[in-house]
Amino acid sequence: MSNYHIKQFEEYFQVYRKSVRNPEQFWEEIAEEHFMWQKRWDSVLEWDFTKPEVKWFKGGKLNITENCIDRHLPTRGDKTAILFEPNNPTEDAEHITYHQLHQRVCQFANVLKDKGIKKGDRVCIYLPMIPELAISVLACARIGAIHSVVFAGFSSKALSTRINDCDAKMVITSDGGYRGQKTIDLKSIVDDALNDCKGIENVLVAKRIHSNINMKDGRDYWLQPLLDKANNHLKAEVMDAEDPLFILYTSGSTGKPKGMLHTTAGYMIFTAYTFKNVFQYTEDDVYWCTADIGWITGHSYIVYGPLANGATTVMFEGVPSYPDFGRFWDIVQKHKVTQFYTAPTAIRALAKQGTEFVDPYDLSSLKVLGTVGEPINEEAWHWYNENVGKKNSPIVDTWWQTETGGIMITPIPFSTPTKPTYATLPFIGVQPALMDENGDEVKGNQVDGRLCIKFPWPSMARTIWGNHQRYKDTYFSAYDNMYFTGDGALRDEVGYYRITGRVDDVIIVSGHNLGTATIEDAINEHQAVAESAIVGFPHDVKGNALYGYVTLKDSGESRNHDNLRKEINQLITDRIGPIAKLDKIQFTEGLPKTRSGKIMRRILRKIASNEADQLGDISTLLNPEVVQNIIDHKL
Ligand code: WTA
Repeated sequence: MSNYHIKQFEEYFQVYRKSVRNPEQFWEEIAEEHFMWQKRWDSVLEWDFTKPEVKWFKGGKLNITENCIDRHLPTRGDKTAILFEPNNPTEDAEHITYHQLHQRVCQFANVLKDKGIKKGDRVCIYLPMIPELAISVLACARIGAIHSVVFAGFSSKALSTRINDCDAKMVITSDGGYRGQKTIDLKSIVDDALNDCKGIENVLVAKRIHSNINMKDGRDYWLQPLLDKANNHLKAEVMDAEDPLFILYTSGSTGKPKGMLHTTAGYMIFTAYTFKNVFQYTEDDVYWCTADIGWITGHSYIVYGPLANGATTVMFEGVPSYPDFGRFWDIVQKHKVTQFYTAPTAIRALAKQGTEFVDPYDLSSLKVLGTVGEPINEEAWHWYNENVGKKNSPIVDTWWQTETGGIMITPIPFSTPTKPTYATLPFIGVQPALMDENGDEVKGNQVDGRLCIKFPWPSMARTIWGNHQRYKDTYFSAYDNMYFTGDGALRDEVGYYRITGRVDDVIIVSGHNLGTATIEDAINEHQAVAESAIVGFPHDVKGNALYGYVTLKDSGESRNHDNLRKEINQLITDRIGPIAKLDKIQFTEGLPKTRSGKIMRRILRKIASNEADQLGDISTLLNPEVVQNIIDHKL
């Protein structure tokens, strides 16, 4: 039996038991046998959830890029590491071998060093899905700089908030990007953002769309000429196991986005180990995850997890609808993709178009299908299973978070019997718990509760950058000695988990986490707005869509509501990005509040979801009279 590659259901149970009974011994064996270290660790695990503090492999020395690149060179140097599929299907795909990746990462890392970037400095990466994105991430890791990738759909304001929060010294961007028929502008968004960012010394600009952009003398540099001059060898910086690897921002219930900090060794080991098993990856496979590297899924399962296993990982620049809704399947056929990992929202969007976009393609190379990011509904699950997997490829419904770094609850394909809408069983080493309203653990099966994790796992985020107190308050204060996920879940009669959704004020729209507070802050900046509240309501493609209730300062009679709606959505686009735009905006005379003045979102959520008949007792509200009015004018 191999602890590293689990192939049978029985093995899963054995290995799981081992990982829980003696976690230190278990992870030590994995670390020892499957990774490259420059110095052995002094202790495997030190932890205290009350502080909270977690250290894996303390004292161990390594560099993640040596594990992801250098160690494959003798055996897989000419194998494709990154397979880049451009937006335009007539443009050739680019096969970057492990040798080439090594050279390009070293060159890029030398450029970073030349521009004064040192170990521990923060580098913000704001790039479309082009090879430079993966390469710049790895180049930072090569020299020990902390990368903070910001999804290229975020606005200049969202970008500057993130740059300032982590005090980045450099931005890496491009002259733009291709997305379907559109080109997107990036450099002018960066320029705008940098008006508010005093700490940025240099901007490196990759050329992709050859557009005319502004280059500021002494600050902005075209990347290619610098790379051309750079040496293609660079010894990797020696990092401590617990040295920071990256910061990635995620939305919170309140306040500004949280910069989740991930460290080196634990993250590497867990993403590599989950990748191997959750996708049952074997040497000649071609693995494709459709996420953007701007999100955690891209970090862990396009870049680090696959490369740590010496895999071929596909990077797709475009969108599923261009040139038509068959594009994903065209790519699967063209590159003989064996594992395909996407989000439920993409599946729903494609299912809506009908099977004529899938049927013409040969998808027989596929072995494993995956989903992530939000609950998958039964209909989408079956569509995926029947039309893409031809009932022949197990679907792994993987539950995890930016904060968890890697996959936490998932079937192991060909081992765990799948069940639609269930993420099924905890991955090796993961100890979930369901908690009730009183803070007690709910034992047994056929129960539900709030999902927590009882014991540290290697890839958990260690803190929120610059705000450890917030880390403690958000994740370790709801329940004693537990990590609280913010999700609700149920456990069925055999112990399978089904994630039921967020129990806080984060709403997942098309797989993107959006914090209601940030959106409300943007709306409230409008001079006509007095107050606002955002809730989610079910949407057949996006999973959830956003419904905004807005009260106006002068009850708005004199203003054209349609214009106001446009202005509000424009504000949201400017402050956050188009992904946070509201589907519906209802102007109301007041918002239902508790006597202590808290907006009762639960009531607003029910109304927006057409469940106004289930409001329960509203008589204890401060202003119960506004509720009927809101119901009467629902959009
Ligand atoms: C949700 C994405 C149901 C969940 C990796 C979680 C899911 C949040 C699933 C994290 C799933 C993720 N089933 N819900 N398989 N996967 N979620 O940080 O609410 O972007 O807390 O990480 O997405 O989103 P994040």
